Amino acid sequence: MLNSSFAQYAVSDFIDTYRSRTARIRRTLARASLVRFCNTMCHISDMMTSAMLFEKFITICAQSAMLLTACILLFTAFEYHRRPTTTTLLYVFALSVLSMTTSLGGFLATFTLDVMLAVALTVSFIALECYLTPLDDETLAFDLEIIGGIYNINTITGQTITSLEVEEQYALTTDRDYALLERIMGPGMHTRLGNDNATQFNYVMDEIQATNATQVLEIGCGRGHSRVLAQMMPNVQFTGIDLVERHIEVAKSRGLANLEYIQADATTDISWLGKNRFQIIFGVESLCHMDSDEKRSQFIANVKSLIAPGGRLVIVDGFRSNTFATASPNQQKAMMLTESGFAIMRMPSKTDWIQAAQGVVTSNKDLTADAMPYWILGWRIARFIMVFPIFMHYYSRRSRATMCTIMNLLSVATVAHAMRNSAAAEYGVLVVMYQTDQ
Ligand SMILES: C[S@@+](CC[C@H](N)C(=O)[O-])C[C@H]1O[C@@H](n2cnc3c(N)ncnc32)[C@H](O)[C@@H]1O
Repeated sequence: MLNSSFAQYAVSDFIDTYRSRTARIRRTLARASLVRFCNTMCHISDMMTSAMLFEKFITICAQSAMLLTACILLFTAFEYHRRPTTTTLLYVFALSVLSMTTSLGGFLATFTLDVMLAVALTVSFIALECYLTPLDDETLAFDLEIIGGIYNINTITGQTITSLEVEEQYALTTDRDYALLERIMGPGMHTRLGNDNATQFNYVMDEIQATNATQVLEIGCGRGHSRVLAQMMPNVQFTGIDLVERHIEVAKSRGLANLEYIQADATTDISWLGKNRFQIIFGVESLCHMDSDEKRSQFIANVKSLIAPGGRLVIVDGFRSNTFATASPNQQKAMMLTESGFAIMRMPSKTDWIQAAQGVVTSNKDLTADAMPYWILGWRIARFIMVFPIFMHYYSRRSRATMCTIMNLLSVATVAHAMRNSAAAEYGVLVVMYQTDQ
């Protein structure tokens, strides 16, 4: 009995001790977890506070940067658009919105949205400004001032340009640039006339049909855009020559059975192509590179040797207009800038060609009005980029290639000015026939 009650006592004592210990351990553990939990929470809150501070710091920096950008843009806007127009005011308004939304904490839900809104507004107002600016003498004077700030107009115009330099300039444009140009423009690195970017080739086709030509030579075939002709006329054999090796490589890779491409300079002796072989010799925006009396006379010597009796030379191109000498000094300057940007020393006029060609002119078409909308669009796009002359100034000095890109862009900005009222430049087709064996 005793033993049994002792045993019972011992067991219950053990259980009590066990319970109280367990409770203590639990309490200790609970306290420890609470402390750990509190510590973790404090840690998190510390982190959140510093993250919020960091975010605030970043926001303030970004807002200050945007405000600074807005001020620079505003300054550029006043510099660029000195004439007070409605669009200038709208432009300034857009810039004010930009500064307000970014510096005063924003109108919209998030800072990013504010910035996106302001940038979208600014870009659209600049575009509107470029779209509405009239093509006139006053704008030309202003554009020349901007261009003059980017590079020295006087040192780049009127310089002698060799075939090597022409080749170098075209070769500096990358495959990617040409691919982009083709995607935007369709087949050709030439002026778009009306809705069709192959219109130039229709004028050539008319002459091929009129002479029942079987052999046609293209001067300055570029990357082989005239293959549309070879596709339409499978019974005619086409030969294309170009200065630039890469152009010929690309043209060959797109070749057709009735097409042959050769790298050659048309201002050197190319009579080896075959005496009296071709009924048609043509160039689409490549013969403008025959920019001196010497180059033209060497080229015409080639034409006379290669052309079949009754054959025709077809020139589809831009020309210095005959009124160039009486055009305003600024329009003359615009034309000279256009020329040098396209690696041309002095673009020949139709009269220069008629004198050099020594044949019978059978067609002389003026297509300036058809070319104008395209060049006006080009001028507006170029002006959109010219809003940032500082960027262009530095970008143009990075390398020879970037200088070429900027010069091309600025040439695009000046063509429309030169062509306005056909004062300094014109666009058209000139056809010269060679009646007898020369
Ligand atoms: C504006 S691109 C026109 C290319 C092509 N005709 C087209 O419409 O797409 C002028 C081309 O003429 C070429 N070229 C310039 N001078 C040349 C010369 N002396 N002999 C051969 N090709 C020349 C250039 O290499 C360039 O590819």
